[in-house]
Amino acid sequence: MKNVFIFLGPPGSGKGTQTSRLAEELNFPHIDTGSLLRQNIKEQTPYGIEAKKYMDKGQLVPIEIVQDIIFERLKKDDAKNGYILDGYPRSVEQAEALEVIHEKLKEYWNDNGAKVTAVYFDVPMEKLVERLVNRRSCPMCGEIYNLKNKKPLKEGFCDKCGVELVQRTDDNEETARLRFETYNKETKPLLDYYGNKNNLKTIDADKDIEEVWNNLLKVVK
Ligand code: AP5
Repeated sequence: MKNVFIFLGPPGSGKGTQTSRLAEELNFPHIDTGSLLRQNIKEQTPYGIEAKKYMDKGQLVPIEIVQDIIFERLKKDDAKNGYILDGYPRSVEQAEALEVIHEKLKEYWNDNGAKVTAVYFDVPMEKLVERLVNRRSCPMCGEIYNLKNKKPLKEGFCDKCGVELVQRTDDNEETARLRFETYNKETKPLLDYYGNKNNLKTIDADKDIEEVWNNLLKVVK
């Protein structure tokens, strides 16, 4: 049975920062709906054009779009033996849809299906706006930086690719607050959803990046 990790937590709780590293450690793909949607926006696909209207307001993109994008992504060969989902599911409706997707994938791969572990990144909300407005990322490799606590070696440029770092358009204080509202209303109920199924692990993510990494390893290995 393949292992599937679902990273849950409010915007800025450090999911993306830790997922890339864990993906390397486990040799699993890091599947992040936010990045897949941003890629669609960049390429001006019909999905991207529609998704942008919601993302600019800090709202969830309609489930039909996200579901199609995720299903297509999970059918790729690199996801055959397990994966890390970052930012999906983001509502109980999406969690139920993921179960349907997992049933379809079981047939598609002709395997025993998925063992799901949801990992909750627990950080007090009041700490997060500062993290978000100071986030910068590499448009080439996706590496995540922070102007306060994870600075690139050369100011403004990616350590790995050397290209200029960018700021996400939704990383301003106003949109961040809307994203927190959406998180509280739509995503937080997933803690009960996975808790009731006995497959929720909580980590203290209000620590420095290395300590959070060690906390994460304790629950995924
Ligand atoms: P998405 O891209 O998924 O954003 P998010 O969930 O809001 O999460 P973030 O990427 O903002 O935060 P993160 O937890 O990954 O933090 P990070 O590691 O970068 O979604 C964007 C939008 O797309 C949504 O609003 C929605 O519209 C749409 N969308 C996406 N998925 C969808 C879905 N399934 N359905 C419908 N719509 C969907 O860290 C943040 C900063 O903090 C960085 O600067 C980092 O360096 C720093 N940092 C990280 N860890 C620490 C630490 N331990 N201490 C101090 N600083 C830290």
